Amino acid sequence: MEIKFVETKNLKTKPDVSKIGFGTHFTDYMFEMDYNPEEGWHEPRIVPYQDLQLSPANTTLHYGQAIFDGLKAYKHGDKPVIFRASDHMRRVNVSAKILDIPEVPFDVALAGLKKLIYIERDWIPTGKGQSLYIRPFIFATDDYLGVKVSKQYKFLIILSPVAAYYAHGFAPVKIMVEDKYVRAVRGGLGAAKTPANYAASLHAGLVAHEKNYDQVLWLDGVERKYIEEVGSMNILFKINGEVITPSPKLQTSILDGITHRTVLEIAKDWGIPAIERKISIDEVIQAYEEGTLEEVFGSGTAAVISPVGVLEYKGKEYVINGGKIGEFTQKMYDYIEGIHMGEIEDKFGYIEFAE
Ligand code: COI
Repeated sequence: MEIKFVETKNLKTKPDVSKIGFGTHFTDYMFEMDYNPEEGWHEPRIVPYQDLQLSPANTTLHYGQAIFDGLKAYKHGDKPVIFRASDHMRRVNVSAKILDIPEVPFDVALAGLKKLIYIERDWIPTGKGQSLYIRPFIFATDDYLGVKVSKQYKFLIILSPVAAYYAHGFAPVKIMVEDKYVRAVRGGLGAAKTPANYAASLHAGLVAHEKNYDQVLWLDGVERKYIEEVGSMNILFKINGEVITPSPKLQTSILDGITHRTVLEIAKDWGIPAIERKISIDEVIQAYEEGTLEEVFGSGTAAVISPVGVLEYKGKEYVINGGKIGEFTQKMYDYIEGIHMGEIEDKFGYIEFAE
């Protein structure tokens, strides 16, 4: 399938990325492709970034049949590169399947992404902790108020130059363990990157912010016992020399994070036991009391690695590693960022060139 390019002379002034935080500015172009049952996915094209025209009856606005993903582009010298592009595009289709959205042709989506990044390569910021955030998403485009699976869809990729996800950069965050609200349940949508999971997290996030916490740590929706994820990140614990983390293979209500996989692969390569298993909040608190809870950190595309300095549970604050960034967390962040920036050899083959 040929990917058409509709050029514009009307280019934007690029912002100072150190001043714009996360997800506030968008580049000159976007990738677009449509689906209907007669033609399948068709007309892949790169067009000027623009507003969409939607019917007020658009079914996504009412019932949320949509999915998205998030990945990042960097520059190695003057070459634009994307971190684990193929894995992310495969995950787009994992999410699509859960929402009954027709899978996008992998080769076309990947080629469209690479072409877009190449065209927009001058938008890739190169400062520390900066990147070009890539947001692929698909949403239903039927105009219909009955509750049913849509027949038509739109797939878009938009790009946003970003600095660190958290306003305070790579620094310990304060996390509230949520034992009242739930994000997702077994048999639900938790494994998909779909707006519903984020909508479910908004109120608890607001309550946490009001109490001066950065994020919420979700427990399982049935027993409120087993740790799930943070919502914008997966979560990992270093206990007694081992990295222990909830597994998307065992708990189907959590997202299979690509950065999570990256951390586990690197830890194993370093000879650190990296164990994916169910872990209860009680076990974490017990490890804290016994002095074996060494470090806690999150992993995700937006945040990359995020040290956790404080966990709050049932009104009590647990200060991790004296509230400071742990040695392993720092080493992991430096290593992954080193691969991102082309300063550390990419021996795992994570980097894909956008040419
Ligand atoms: C990501 O890490 O890419 C995310 O999607 C998290 C958040 C910005 C929604």
